[in-house]
Amino acid sequence: MESLKKGSDCPQKPAVAADIHYVDAPRHVAIIMDGNGRWASSKGLSTAEGHRAGFSNIEPVLQMFADAGVHEVTLFAFSTENWSRPADEVEALMDLLSDEIAAGTDRFNQKKVRLRHLGDPSKLPRHIQAKVREAVCATSSNSGLTLNVAFNYGGRQDIVNAVRQIIANGVSADLIDENTVGRYLYTAGGTDPDLIIRTGGEFRISNFLLWQSAYAEFHSTETLWPDFGESDVARAINEYASRDRRFGSRVES
Ligand code: IPE
Ligand code: IPE
Ligand code: MG
Repeated sequence: MESLKKGSDCPQKPAVAADIHYVDAPRHVAIIMDGNGRWASSKGLSTAEGHRAGFSNIEPVLQMFADAGVHEVTLFAFSTENWSRPADEVEALMDLLSDEIAAGTDRFNQKKVRLRHLGDPSKLPRHIQAKVREAVCATSSNSGLTLNVAFNYGGRQDIVNAVRQIIANGVSADLIDENTVGRYLYTAGGTDPDLIIRTGGEFRISNFLLWQSAYAEFHSTETLWPDFGESDVARAINEYASRDRRFGSRVES
């Protein structure tokens, strides 16, 4: 069975994810897609163009992870804190989401991708809310990769929203356990991420999947999101495969 570790003596052309059968590929990869702004300014482009390049990179990267055996991908596309950015940048991000969903639904169906939205839809412009709902419904019976798009998502807001619903549903306090909370989070029905990748070089979680990341492995890369490609995917998965996940237990070596 070939792995990139064995193929890494081929620097000009990194092994294509599709060629690799990862023994220990993560089941669920979550990505903090950071660095669009720096990518744009390094090229003398506008921030909006950076975000456009970032959105264009989503589909090829999804294919790479699907080919590597990943079943679920969560993308952090817009945080609850990103509303504090300049109005024209926020608008550009909303337009990109809207365009991407409109253009993407047929392709998702072709590729059997099941789309889900994580976050509070109520603050999004109404036409986007409708598009998101339609795309989620139109792809809901697809059996391939699950793609969670975290848009207007915050980990704290996810937990607050869950607590509110638990109370609103009158769930008795002594019946609440970790599984109960999990069922009320936006990620209900999915799995916890095995691997969280952050592009753009920072080592922070920035309010992403706070509950769900309890035992996720973390991979940070300097690569800016629009440049994230095959060799980065391979590096992240190989690093994950080399980790010793103990979940708090003592594993005798
Ligand atoms: C990440 O790129 C995308 C969003 C936060 C929406 P940034 O826009 O944060 O890029 P940098 O960090 O400024 O380079
Ligand atoms: C995290 O990136 C949010 C997304 C990628 C959507 P930010 O650029 O907003 O994070 P900070 O501000 O550097 O923590
Ligand atoms: Mg950033």
